[in-house]
Amino acid sequence: MSTLEVRTGTAADLPGIHLAGARAFGDEAGPERIAEIDRLIPPARYVLGLDAGTVVGVTAVMPLRMTVPGRAQVRAAGIADVSVAATHRRRGILRQILSAQHHGLVEEGFALAALTASEGTIYGRFGYGPATVYQRVEIDRQHAAFRPGAPDPGGVRQTTAEQARGLLPAVHARWQSRTPGALHRSGAWWDWQLSDRPAERRGASALQFLVHPDGYATFRRAEGPRGRQARVVELVAATEDAHAALWRVLLGLDLVPTVVAELSPDDPLPFLLTDTRAARVTGARDGVWVRLLDVGAALAQRRYATELDVVIDVADGFLGRGGRFRLRGGPEGAECTRTDASADVHTDVSTLGSLHLGGHRVRTLHRAGLVGVHDPAVLDRLDLALVTDRAPVHGTDF
Ligand SMILES: CC(C)(COP(=O)(O)OP(=O)(O)OC[C@H]1O[C@@H](n2cnc3c(N)ncnc32)[C@H](O)[C@@H]1OP(=O)(O)O)[C@@H](O)C(=O)NCCC(=O)NCCS
Repeated sequence: MSTLEVRTGTAADLPGIHLAGARAFGDEAGPERIAEIDRLIPPARYVLGLDAGTVVGVTAVMPLRMTVPGRAQVRAAGIADVSVAATHRRRGILRQILSAQHHGLVEEGFALAALTASEGTIYGRFGYGPATVYQRVEIDRQHAAFRPGAPDPGGVRQTTAEQARGLLPAVHARWQSRTPGALHRSGAWWDWQLSDRPAERRGASALQFLVHPDGYATFRRAEGPRGRQARVVELVAATEDAHAALWRVLLGLDLVPTVVAELSPDDPLPFLLTDTRAARVTGARDGVWVRLLDVGAALAQRRYATELDVVIDVADGFLGRGGRFRLRGGPEGAECTRTDASADVHTDVSTLGSLHLGGHRVRTLHRAGLVGVHDPAVLDRLDLALVTDRAPVHGTDF
C-alpha cells in the first residue's frame, strides 16, 4: 500500500463510498436507498482513507439531537457507515480515520458522540461505552392474558402508511423529549424509517400501523421458527394508556401464534399480564454506544437525581480529553470544570459513556473494576445521582 491519504469526502467520492459500504456490509443498496443515505449524510461529513485514489476506509458523522437525563436536548455526533476494505484490514486504517474524524468533532464543539456497533469488541478502545440495552421478548399469544384490572383504554386505529407518515412524527417527538437517550428524527429520518421497499423486507409483510393519540406501533407479519409471527418494529408510547392500548391490540392479532419485540429492560408489559413469564426474554443486545468528547460540557448538560459534589479522574487514551473534573450537580442543574483537587473517583471515558444515560449503574461497573473509589460513601452518592427515572432508549438505529 502506498501512503494512506486521509481527507473529508466530496461528491465525486460518493460512488466509491457506497461501493465500500456494499462490500463491507453485504447489502446492495438500490438507487433510491442511496439517495436517502445522501440526504442523511452530505459528502463533506465523511472522513475517508484512500489508497492510490481508491476508497479503502470510510467513517461518517450525522449531526443528531439526543435527550439526556433531565430532558435537555443536546447535539450529538452520530458516527455511521464505518468500514475498512477487506484487503486493507488490521493495518490501523480505522484508527487513523476515526482519529481525524474525532479531532474534527472536538473542534466543532460536539460534547457527545454516539454510534451503534456491529461488534462489541471494536469501540471501547476509542472511548465508547455501551449505554442502552434492548431485551428481545417473545410472547406466546395463547398464554398471554391481560391481568384483571389492567388498563384497557382503547383508542387504537389502523392507518395506511401515508396516514402514518402524517401522524407518527408528532407522537414520536413527544416520546423523544421525555426519554433519556432518545434521538430526534428529522424528515429525512422519517423517509428512511418508513420507506418499506419490498426488496428490503426480507420475506416479511409490508409494515402495518397501529395509531393511538399518544403512541403508535409498527409491525410486520413474518414466518418465524414456530409459525407465523408479528414482529414489532417499534412501539412508541408517550403515555402508559397508549402503551397498554397498543399492546392489547398487538396481543389480540389473529393468525399469529407469537409476537416478538425488543423492549427496554424496564418496560411494564410483563406486569400487564396474568403471567409475567408470558413475555419470555430470549436475548439482549446493546443499543447505542456513547462517547464523551468534552467531559466537562457533557457532564454539565445532564441532570442528577440527587445532589452531588465529586472530583472524577478520567482516562482517555484515544483523544487525550481526560483529566480531573469537579462535578457539582443535582435535579435542577449541574456544572463541571477542570480541577487540580485530588480525585474521589477514577474511571475511563468509555465507562463514563456507559453511565451517561443511566442505562447502567455505577455500582455494577464498580463491581467490574471499572470505577475506582477510596470512600464507599462516594460510590453510594454517585450511584444514586446517576440513576434515571426510566431506562434510556435511543429508538433510531443509524
Ligand atoms: C471493523 C473494521 C472497520 C476495522 O478496521 P481496521 O482498519 O481493520 O481496524 P484497525 O486496524 O485500525 O484497528 C484498530 C484497533 O481495533 C481493533 N479491531 C479492529 N477491528 C476489530 C474487530 N472486528 N474486533 C476486535 N478488534 C478489532 C484492532 O485490533 C486495533 O486494535 P489496537 O489499535 O488497539 O491495537 C473493519 O474490520 C470492517 O470494516 N469490518 C466490517 C464492517 C464493520 O463491522 N464496521 C463497523 C460498523 S459499526
